[in-house]
Amino acid sequence: MTFTESDVREFFDQTLATYLAFWDSDGVLHTGYFTGKSDEDYRAASDRTSEIVAAEAGLDGSSSVLDVGCGCGNFLIGIARRVGCRGVGLDLSEERIKFAREKLAGHPGLDLRFDHGSATEMPYPDGEFSHVVSQDALCLVPDKPRSHAEIFRVLAPGGTFAFTDFLQPRPQVSERARRHVYDRVRWNGGYSFLGYQQALAEAGFEPVLARNVADHLAQTYRVLGKTAAQTAATTRDTAERNWMLAFSESCRNIQVAIDDGEFGWGIFVARKPA
Ligand SMILES: C[S@@+](CC[C@H](N)C(=O)[O-])C[C@H]1O[C@@H](n2cnc3c(N)ncnc32)[C@H](O)[C@@H]1O
Repeated sequence: MTFTESDVREFFDQTLATYLAFWDSDGVLHTGYFTGKSDEDYRAASDRTSEIVAAEAGLDGSSSVLDVGCGCGNFLIGIARRVGCRGVGLDLSEERIKFAREKLAGHPGLDLRFDHGSATEMPYPDGEFSHVVSQDALCLVPDKPRSHAEIFRVLAPGGTFAFTDFLQPRPQVSERARRHVYDRVRWNGGYSFLGYQQALAEAGFEPVLARNVADHLAQTYRVLGKTAAQTAATTRDTAERNWMLAFSESCRNIQVAIDDGEFGWGIFVARKPA
């Protein structure tokens, strides 16, 4: 099955309430960076990932940042409060953008905006941003060369592209991985660790950093699978409860997929030549 951008949009619009109920009530939806195997604090781990992305990107008060696939806007609101940068968040899901805008209204004075739109057709002029960031979103774009070209276009010369993303370490994946990892979130598939670096080079970027960090991915789904099962036990709505139980079951299969090299996660930094 091949998913379109409409399929992806529908998934993220329809699942917002369910994700808010068990994953993170602020709408954070990315892989955590844990301190060790016994660390079960997902929110702290997900904030750590954001801190790593911000630090690797080199964000400061003079930065003009685009967050592609910004979801509920947490990254930009957090970093703008911390360093005072300007920023724009772009996401395909209208529901998530609505949520981000409502959250932003509670932080007057931040120079931020949230736009509904796609990574493949960005409503911004060439060279508009000093930095583009993204967390676990670009893999979902069916036409990846096109979103890479758009990111390259909207970055100023010398600008930095820092992001995390899911990896498809090998070309063929099992039926189990297809069902529990890929089709579950309407993800057609992605790059291997090396393939990603090649794709960035083909889009014109210079490499700065590439880290293969699948162990944090495994810990994220171990912790969230447990949380989903616990939350399901106290959830009255049958459809929502069943969704959480299915997610928890998928989390067990996701561990297998990671161990079998069918699912991975990477942190990358690249630069548009000056
Ligand atoms: C796993 S969530 C990550 C959200 C956010 N980055 C975070 O860390 O919480 C992936 C996000 O990518 C968005 N997305 C998927 N395809 C997109 C596209 N073509 N253009 C813009 N956003 C997209 C989804 O709507 C979703 O909000």
